[in-house]
Amino acid sequence: MIATTDMTGQFNAAEAAAKLILSRTPLRPQIGLVLGSGLGGFADTLSDATRVPYAEIPSFPQSTAIGHAGRMVIGNAGSVPVAAMQGRVHLYEGYSAQEVTFPIRVFARMGIRAVILTNAAGGINRSYAQGALVLIRDHINLQGTNPLVGVNDDRFGARFPDMTHAYSRAYREAAREEVRKLGITLHEGVYAALLGPSYETPAEIEYLRRIGADLVGMSTVAEVIAARHMGMSVLALSCVTNMAAGILDQPLSHAEVMETGERVKTTFEALLRAVLPRVAADLPS
Ligand code: HPA
Repeated sequence: MIATTDMTGQFNAAEAAAKLILSRTPLRPQIGLVLGSGLGGFADTLSDATRVPYAEIPSFPQSTAIGHAGRMVIGNAGSVPVAAMQGRVHLYEGYSAQEVTFPIRVFARMGIRAVILTNAAGGINRSYAQGALVLIRDHINLQGTNPLVGVNDDRFGARFPDMTHAYSRAYREAAREEVRKLGITLHEGVYAALLGPSYETPAEIEYLRRIGADLVGMSTVAEVIAARHMGMSVLALSCVTNMAAGILDQPLSHAEVMETGERVKTTFEALLRAVLPRVAADLPS
């Protein structure tokens, strides 16, 4: 457990966790990947893979969500060494925003300068359909918390980090170029993050639509804030596993979320494979 307001404690814990992970593999990952609900299969396609269960990493939060394997896989995606998280923890599991973002801190202490974050999301924008893939262009944080609350540790980053360019435009353009070659349709939208774990009401979805959200989910935003705090570049990708509450007149279920993840698996993995070398070619200094 990491103390909520002790960022220096987090720094030292992240350092220890990074050391343990790197001691298990000769690879030096360039990109950190977080694979969301139903999307973890990509990690099983990596070559020269080393698997480190979260339980073996000091201070690492353990995922309780169904559909999350709970391990880090370090391996090569083609010629790009990556560290992929099969499963993440969420605020709704009872973890603090500092705990939720601890893996991102660890990525940074491993020397990683760019992250690709993925998630399952509800589609609010009516031009999306179930199974659509959406690049996140911006976010609205409605989770009521922020991973940077507490005394700041300047070794991570500034007290008041800028969020104007949270989602790298260069990476989004590179992703769009790659999907064009692959013939995959890729949308772009604004992701609203709520605490969960209950799904939204139709009235909440109507509210989110009016304030400019295209997608809704329960993850990612805290991770983006922590990554930007440390100067890491971010590409974030949602899979619309279901249309949000009230858009279609039918109830939502976690089973549906997992089924859609499974259905788009091949396309999603092709997209990641194509985008990774582009991100690796454009890492921040
Ligand atoms: N709402 C919130 N989170 C989600 C959804 C949703 O409809 N689908 C997948 N994650």
